[in-house]
Amino acid sequence: MLVTRGSGRLFDVETGCELAPEIAEIPWDRAATELAGYPDYMTKEIHEQPATLRRIAATSRHHVRQLAALIGQARDVFVIGCGTAGHAALAEQYLLARIAEHRVTFATASEFQYLQDFVTRGSLVVALSQSGETIDVIDAVRAARGRGASIAAVVNVEGSTLWRFADHAVPLMAGPERCVLSTKTFAAKLAILMLTAYELARQGDVGCACIINAADEIERLLAGDRRDLIRRIADEISTRDHLFVIGRGPSYPLALETALKVKEVSYVHAEGFAGGELKHGVIALIEPGTPCLVLAPRDETHDDILAGAMQVKARGAMLIGVSPEPHEAFDYHIAVADLGPATAIVNAVPGQVLGYYLALLRGHDPDKPRNLAKSVTVK
Ligand code: BG6
Repeated sequence: MLVTRGSGRLFDVETGCELAPEIAEIPWDRAATELAGYPDYMTKEIHEQPATLRRIAATSRHHVRQLAALIGQARDVFVIGCGTAGHAALAEQYLLARIAEHRVTFATASEFQYLQDFVTRGSLVVALSQSGETIDVIDAVRAARGRGASIAAVVNVEGSTLWRFADHAVPLMAGPERCVLSTKTFAAKLAILMLTAYELARQGDVGCACIINAADEIERLLAGDRRDLIRRIADEISTRDHLFVIGRGPSYPLALETALKVKEVSYVHAEGFAGGELKHGVIALIEPGTPCLVLAPRDETHDDILAGAMQVKARGAMLIGVSPEPHEAFDYHIAVADLGPATAIVNAVPGQVLGYYLALLRGHDPDKPRNLAKSVTVK
């Protein structure tokens, strides 16, 4: 491409022939990329989650209905992504099962190339990506199409490589995400995928109401004393070397996401685990005072995850409970309303805020963590 002041000309790299570029307008305005008075983009984008969720609930039904129809018609469905997008893809496996009793298969995008044997004509691959440029996702969908699969994509950057490659693209409508860490686009992916599950179950209105409830609860969580409580927790654990996060069912992907947020922005070694895995090795790592964050929503995982929490407590762990009700075992309790499946969207926020405060306490730039890129476009 030949770019000059005020113009750009496109050439075919093989033939040198000039091409007529396809012009697409991205519905983002310049002001949306500014800090708008926030201290950094991570804070801004965490606080943009309620508005993002409300926008999705109000304007995504058409896209979501189409995605639900594709999922319902497909011979088999694979949901893939990297990093935070991968955690949203894993969450979708639980949400579609629980809300629509529909089976999809999760795969980390970089591993999907080793599972392509299952992909055939009639398969649908749903690729999640904020940037639409992550090379592992692009490679995965190219290989899947080569085996006859249809490609659906849930993407924030409209016009990106993945957006243009997909047979069906669903916009995240989260606006520009400048912080390297995905926060509002994680919430947006969960919302789109949850709405898709409700549409598949022919309960689209219920889905929209759930998303709006989640937006309201996040707004309350960020405005009130719970955010100060999380800051105090960060203060207490900022010098610890490890943080363990446990969750079961739909809270398992949230445990992975919480740990990723903490480690990528504060460089504290944080690991997320399925609650049932504690006794298969993790518990050997628990020492007196080891901080362990427990995601304990009021759902079918509640009693078992608390039983696991008591196991680590008995070994001296410091428990941080994220749940609707307090528990005698919790050293700290971050209260989160019981919103049914939509609790998963809210449960991501404590980890975002905890990671943020840990980064500040440890003197790191929350917007530009070391060694990380906003989009990994090379292998
Ligand atoms: C990583 C980012 O590089 O890429 C993560 O640091 C992100 O925040 C991951 O989740 C995947 O990026 P994308 O654009 O495909 O969602």
